[in-house]
Formats: sequence, C-alpha cells, structure tokens
Amino acid sequence: IDIDTNKPIAHVSKEMWGIFFEDINFAADGGLYAELVKNRSFEFPMPLMGWKQLKTGGKQASLLIVNHQKAGSSHARHAAIDLIEGPGSFVLSNEGFRGIGLEKDKQYRFSIAACSFSDSVKIRIEAEDPKNEIVGSAKIDKLTSDWQTYTVIFKCKETTAKARLNVIFEGKGKVEVDMISLFPRETWKNRENGLRADLAQKLADLHPGFMRFPGGCIVEGRELLNRYQWKKTIGPTDGRELLLNRWNVEFAKRSAPDYYQSFGLGFFEYFQFCEDIGASPLPILNCGMACQYNSAEVVSLDQLDPYIQDALDLIDFANGPQTSKWGALRAQLGHPKPFNLRLLGIGNEQWGEQYIERFKLFAAVLKSKYPEVKLISSAGPSPNGTMFDLLNKKLREEKAELIDEHYYRDPEWFLKNVNRYDTYERKDSKVFAGEYAVHIPDNMQKDTHAESHNTIWSALCEAAFMTGLERNADVVQMASYAPLLASIEAWQWRPDLIWFDNLHSVATPNYYVQQMFAVNKGDVVLSTLSKGKPLAGQDSIYATSSIDTVKGNIIVKLINTSLNARTVNLNLSGSNQLKDMITWIELSDKDKSAFNSLDNPQAVKPEMKTIKLGKRKTFELKGLSANVLVLPLS
Ligand code: AHR
Repeated sequence: IDIDTNKPIAHVSKEMWGIFFEDINFAADGGLYAELVKNRSFEFPMPLMGWKQLKTGGKQASLLIVNHQKAGSSHARHAAIDLIEGPGSFVLSNEGFRGIGLEKDKQYRFSIAACSFSDSVKIRIEAEDPKNEIVGSAKIDKLTSDWQTYTVIFKCKETTAKARLNVIFEGKGKVEVDMISLFPRETWKNRENGLRADLAQKLADLHPGFMRFPGGCIVEGRELLNRYQWKKTIGPTDGRELLLNRWNVEFAKRSAPDYYQSFGLGFFEYFQFCEDIGASPLPILNCGMACQYNSAEVVSLDQLDPYIQDALDLIDFANGPQTSKWGALRAQLGHPKPFNLRLLGIGNEQWGEQYIERFKLFAAVLKSKYPEVKLISSAGPSPNGTMFDLLNKKLREEKAELIDEHYYRDPEWFLKNVNRYDTYERKDSKVFAGEYAVHIPDNMQKDTHAESHNTIWSALCEAAFMTGLERNADVVQMASYAPLLASIEAWQWRPDLIWFDNLHSVATPNYYVQQMFAVNKGDVVLSTLSKGKPLAGQDSIYATSSIDTVKGNIIVKLINTSLNARTVNLNLSGSNQLKDMITWIELSDKDKSAFNSLDNPQAVKPEMKTIKLGKRKTFELKGLSANVLVLPLS
C-alpha cells in the first residue's frame, strides 16, 4: 500500500463522524432520559396507563383523574384521591418502562406534586421487586393545602430490573397528586432532569463530531398535528405537552401501545448534551410535510410561514444574544452563552416536488438572515433509482449545501458502493450520509437475541464503506449510523448501535467501528493506493489513511473482509519521519455472525497493542478484521 504523506487529497471536517439520535426503540423515554416512572402526570390518552390501583386493609377510597385544562395549558390532568374510610391504604403502583431498574446501594430521588386539606393524609413510597420484597422506601413530609413538590431520596437494598413503584396513601381525607417521578440520583453530570449515565457515557465515548436530533420520522409525525415542535419541548417539564410517538403501535412492526413522548428530554437538554460531549448540534425540523410513509399530508404553501418562523426562532434560541427574545429564554433556562448552532436540517426523509418547493422557501428566508448556518436537505429514502437521482439533481440546481442520503442496505450493497463517491459530482452540494446501517437478511442470522443482527460482518461491511466516505471527505462531510439506541424489550427497528435493558447496556461491533473511526479521525486524507488505484476491495482489503496534524499522527485504517488473514506492506513516502513504536487497534472475530449481547457483552471488542514499526512495515491482518494503525510522527 503506497501512502504518500506529502499528498493530501481531502480535508476531513470536524463533524465527519457523528451520531443520529431518534426516540425510536424507547431511546428517550424509557432509555436515555433517566425518568423511571411511565406516564408520570396522567397525560397518556388512557390516563392510568402504566398505573394500577390497589387497596389494602379494607381501605375504602376512590380516584378521579381531574382535567383542569385552561386555555393554553398543556398538562391538563392530575389525580384526585378520596380516602374515605378504613385503616389500610390506597396504592397507586407504577410499572415503569417494562419494569423499573434499581441497583443495590444506589440512591434514587422520588418527587411528587401534591396538596391536601386533611392533616391525616400521609404519603409514603415503596419500591417492590418481582418477589414482592421491598427494596427501598421513604416517607413524604406533611402535606400542605397548596400545591407543592415534595422530594425524598432513598437508598436501594437490592438490584432488580423489574421493580414497581408503589405510592401509598394513608389516613382520611382528600389528596391531589401530579408529576410522580423517580430518577436515579446519579445521572449524567448529576443533573436533576438528567440522562441515564451509562447510556450518555457510551455516546460520549464515541467522541461524535455532531449529534443529529430529534430524528428520524418523529420529526415529521404521522400527521402534521403530531409533528415534532421544538418550542413545546423546553421550559418546566410539567408544561411540556405529551405527544404520540410515531413509533407507537399501529405503524410499528413490534407493538408499543404505551409509546409517547413526554419531552422530558427536550431541545434544551439536547443542546446541553451536545455541548457536554463536544458534538456540534444538528437539529432537524419539520418542513411542512408529515411522514410520507404514513400520510400524504403537507401544509399548503401559503401556510408555511409558522414552520419557517420555528426555524428562525430556533437559531435565535441557540445563538441569539441574551437580549433577543429566544436568546433571553435560553439564558433564563440556565445557559446564557450561545450553543453555537451551525447546522440545521430542513425535513427528515422527504421527497417529491412538494419537498423542493418547501425547501426553497425555507432556504430563501434562512440564508438571507443567517448565512452562516449550513442547511441540510433531504434526498429521500435509500438510493432507489429515478426518484433519488431526480431529487439530488434538483437540490443541486438549488445549490443545496449538504444533501442527506440514507442507506439501509444489505452487506453486498455496502461493499459494492465503496467507490460510490469516487466519481461523485464535486461542485457545490456536499453529502451528509445521515442514516446508514448494514441490514443482514433475516435468513442469514439465527434470531436468538434482539441484538443478533449487529454482527461483526455487518460492522466490517460498514467499516469498508466508511473508508470510501473518508477517501471522499471533500464530498462526504458528515456521516452517522442509525438508529442509535434500542431497548431490548421494546424495539421497533434493528440493527441499532447500542442495546440496553433497565440496568445494562451493550456496545455492538458496529459501535466499535464508529468509535475507531471517530477517535482516529485525522484532519487530512492522504493518497493511499495499491498499484496506482484506491484500495477498495482488491483481495478483500479496504484502506484509507490520514494525518492528524494536531496530534502529529499518521493514521491508517485497514479492513479485511476475507475469512483469511492478509499480509499488507505499507510503503510510506514523503518527508515525514515516524517514531518506532506505534499503536494497533484491532476488531475481529473468526465467526461472521458473532455479536455482542447483554448477556455476553464482550464477545467482540477491539484490542489495542503497542508494537515496533520495523523497517519493512509489514502487517498481518486477521481474517474478518478492522484495523487502525496510529503512527506517531517524530
Ligand atoms: O432510523 C429509522 C428510520 O429510518 C428513521 O426514523 C427514518 O428517517 C428512516 O426511514
């Protein structure tokens, strides 16, 4: 392999390898958002979904869900309980998101908004495991007659993935409650309305250059009425209007009738998380079109202004000074400094003439006011001939800055398309590979686990394809695998990058490939040839190399998709001198179908070693392996 360290062929953007976050597969509520209570404020269309009412000790009691909707208020309901008679108790018991995960010796923060005119009414809580053992408990202070939020911390005695939370009411009289919430005390950065620490850490460990949010199809909604509207997701959590998740039952392969968006994880939290992990924020906004897989609903062109205004206001919210309308709100929410928004997506996976018409109107207004914000436009679903090409052509005519291409394809497609961008039009529009993943055909993999489609083989085919993206970093400026997170018990789509249950999470081989590329990104791609041609599948080897001018490393990525080992010889030319000791990161498995699962999370994982470079620079690549060599410059 001839690598010319003096021959740059492309600049690699800071944002090259990023992450795509969507609330699919219970990725937000029940996943990254650390709230453990489902339907905490009775706003699900069936107000007691997730809750059970129990009575003990002959207690007589009644419960009503009171709707107190005032014009403009979004949280309409609370529970009114009348404890009529008897010594026992009335219990509201929450099932969590397919159980509540609690860990031994960890602390949990319970909170409840309540009011009561009766001195005799008392509230206490118990966390109960599936064997009916009480693993944690606490008492609430004396209640007052005006609404207040009460908070208690308790320590858990045993680990359980499937606890219930019992809110126990005793005494006599009336009590009203709302926003019944339970969080681990330890969240990501220990924020109160925080994120699940293990999942947030896994995302941070990917070192993503950007984070795309909030989707995905949920941006679009099944119909415009339930599209994602960022303004409804900020401010006090009890004012964020609940929404049906686009991935709820009817349209999902795997039914999830309890899938709603509480927006506890809203736009402020997304921006904050991006800042925490050093990722450029990339919000995607609805462009006036509902999900085209579900409905053909579009807003009429003369009614598009509010959608465009949402985009203008979002830029002001993220970047405006504290004196601007939305900048002031950001400051009030606790972030006086701007979030530095430089990328904005208009529409998710949209297509057709209707998209072009709407995109043009957005672009005209946004670019005249905020020329510094790059706009991303959609190229529709996976490349599928005429429609895709036509859309691409039209967007290029409009001088679209970045075009979002999605590909969910089989392994062969990825390997065949390694050269996809070698001959791409280089003028004007650039590419954002905004969603991609190798989909293993069902008959190629035994379905023993939900995670079983995230095989090493799928990861290697993605890695091979990614060498093609890196080689063409002048055209492909950003890329993200999708989807990102999936609950093992409630998923609608696979494969996914990270799987989780109520207690644990597991990184897939695909995750490790993303991490290997992002951590070892480099900023300038170098000419990497074999017999004068890019090394893109000859003898089952795929290669690319770059230089990290800041850290002073040459980085070589070598993917071997053959079952057999391959020996490669690096012929490095140019004026750069190398140190003797280099780092070799290797991800491999002999078995194409190997995958990581929650019960065997370390089956496939990268190994790192330091070796002497030697004069000949010869490397034996294992069969089925992805390799990153980091060669420090002297
Ligand atoms: O990633 C899953 C879905 O795939 C996304 O919501 C959508 O954009 C695409 O169709």
